[in-house]
Amino acid sequence: MSETARMILDGQEYEFPVITGSENEKAIDISKLRGSTGYITMDPGFKNTGSTQSGITYLDGENGVLRYRGYAIEDLAEKASFIEVAYLLIYGDLPNKEQLEYFSDSVTRHTIVHENMKRFFDAFPLGAHPMGMLSSMVASLSTFYPESQNPNRDITDIDLTIHRLIAKLPTLAAQAYKHNVGLPTMYPKNNLSYVGNFMHMMWGVPAEDYEIDPIVESALNKLFILHADHEQNCSTSTVRVVGSSQANLYSSVSAGVSALWGPLHGGANQAVIEMLEAIRAEGSPLQSWIDRAKDKTDSFRLMGFGHRVYKNFDPRARIIKKAADEVLGQLGVNDPVLEIAKQLEEVALNDEYFVQRGLYPNVDFYSGIIYRALGIPTDMFTVMFALGRLPGWIGQWKEMTENREPIGRPRQVYVGATNRAFTGLDAR
Ligand code: ACO
Repeated sequence: MSETARMILDGQEYEFPVITGSENEKAIDISKLRGSTGYITMDPGFKNTGSTQSGITYLDGENGVLRYRGYAIEDLAEKASFIEVAYLLIYGDLPNKEQLEYFSDSVTRHTIVHENMKRFFDAFPLGAHPMGMLSSMVASLSTFYPESQNPNRDITDIDLTIHRLIAKLPTLAAQAYKHNVGLPTMYPKNNLSYVGNFMHMMWGVPAEDYEIDPIVESALNKLFILHADHEQNCSTSTVRVVGSSQANLYSSVSAGVSALWGPLHGGANQAVIEMLEAIRAEGSPLQSWIDRAKDKTDSFRLMGFGHRVYKNFDPRARIIKKAADEVLGQLGVNDPVLEIAKQLEEVALNDEYFVQRGLYPNVDFYSGIIYRALGIPTDMFTVMFALGRLPGWIGQWKEMTENREPIGRPRQVYVGATNRAFTGLDAR
């Protein structure tokens, strides 16, 4: 007999089905709750709410487990290329040789963006934040490729849109950077790897040949993989909700870029470095920062600490911490900010407040340090996250579309003024 949950409301008993996932995760299906009882549930921030049944990413926050389509993040980060992982997330399986060749070729062929888009960049003020430029540019892709706007598009159109977006995001990201610092943009070079091509467009200048450093290429490949998906996080849920209105992929992903920008989400990697730099500049003892983070009257939080689902450790942070040590060693970078980060981690991890609340360093605590060592400016950190997260957003959008999920539309409990008579201006 299938499991059910019983609820007693106003003396009446109701039964709701229990859903069990492939890793034995349990959920009470309350989709018929309002229809049968008139009640809704209240769950601000959706802390206990499952919005979908997904086959993409499995995450066990208590035990620090993260798998994409069943493959351990540790294996993928060590052994796969970012393009293989992108294929895995979007199409469900690791590609065979022919599939990988076809996918890489197609993604490589679409790297150039329309020349008219350059004029959009010209209109942004110098120093414009690259995340603001990126979300606008991604949304504007839909105007250049109108076939993406048809909600009844066939699978070939969807694939073309997906390949275009994966191909063009690094070009747009690098152009956003070049505009931010006032340097000439570089055209893609399609004989380079996906990551190598991004490096060329980011750091290359027309006057010189740019040589790809394999240490940097491999570190970026790993970072992109570690960020590639994280089930129903804020930006991914945004992509799914926007897409649920049948908005096209470009607009949905553009909304995801915006959601990622916030310092409580992807923007934390920038906020971490700014915090570490402030600690260094001020020279005050670390304990005073910890005390501020614990003080409920102070809005300061230790950036890079805590996570909605990881309450023991973030497996990505473990891999990144090791990678940070390796990359900094290989590049011969001696960054005092890394030292401060290590000391801060040590103090926080031994503090009752952080231990009790399960606040551990998250992926953003160390990613910023690697980006810094690789010569990526702080403003670009969240863009790097977006480049990594793209296949996850696409895979989740595709899954939502294929499942024909209903439009995302939560309810509320109204607590405002009750019915009152309109009064004319003279009487107010
Ligand atoms: N510093 C100090 N206290 C914290 C921190 C922090 N970084 N994070 C959480 N807390 C405290 C809260 O004040 C709260 O304390 P209380 O129980 O006494 O009220 C408790 O820990 C639980 O925190 P919530 O905010 O309820 O947890 P939630 O799951 O809603 O938030 C979040 C998770 C947003 C990540 C939070 O931990 C945070 O703000 N961290 C700093 C920002 C950050 O690093 N974000 C990146 C997340 S990873 C990613 O997006 C890739």
